[in-house]
Amino acid sequence: MANVTFSSPMLHPSKTIYAVAGDTHTVLALALANHIPIPFDCRDGNCASCLIKVTYADPANRKAIALTEKEKTKLRELGKLTAAELEDAEVRDLPPHYRLACQFIVRDEDVTISYTGEPGGA
Ligand code: FES
Repeated sequence: MANVTFSSPMLHPSKTIYAVAGDTHTVLALALANHIPIPFDCRDGNCASCLIKVTYADPANRKAIALTEKEKTKLRELGKLTAAELEDAEVRDLPPHYRLACQFIVRDEDVTISYTGEPGGA
């Protein structure tokens, strides 16, 4: 089971959701299902309204599915994915710290999702 904590100036206090192991919903879907306000628009990795910063409780054991080409492109356009982070993602399957909530699926790990509440703010 994963603990997903949402932290934003829009939330007082932060809110933790216990995601069911094997859940394949995105962080955006998890937020919406739990009435957590998070900016979004396209839900398809194109607009970056749902940009989030992900902090892993155990950084040495980050788990993630590979970034989609769409997410890589958008994060690079925003300057939120360095060349080193891209190499980590492509070669070592290590996820970067900035993600798009509509693309990111939490695995069996505890994470904190931070965002400002402004579209594209993280
Ligand atoms: Fe548009 Fe996530 S909602 S990129």
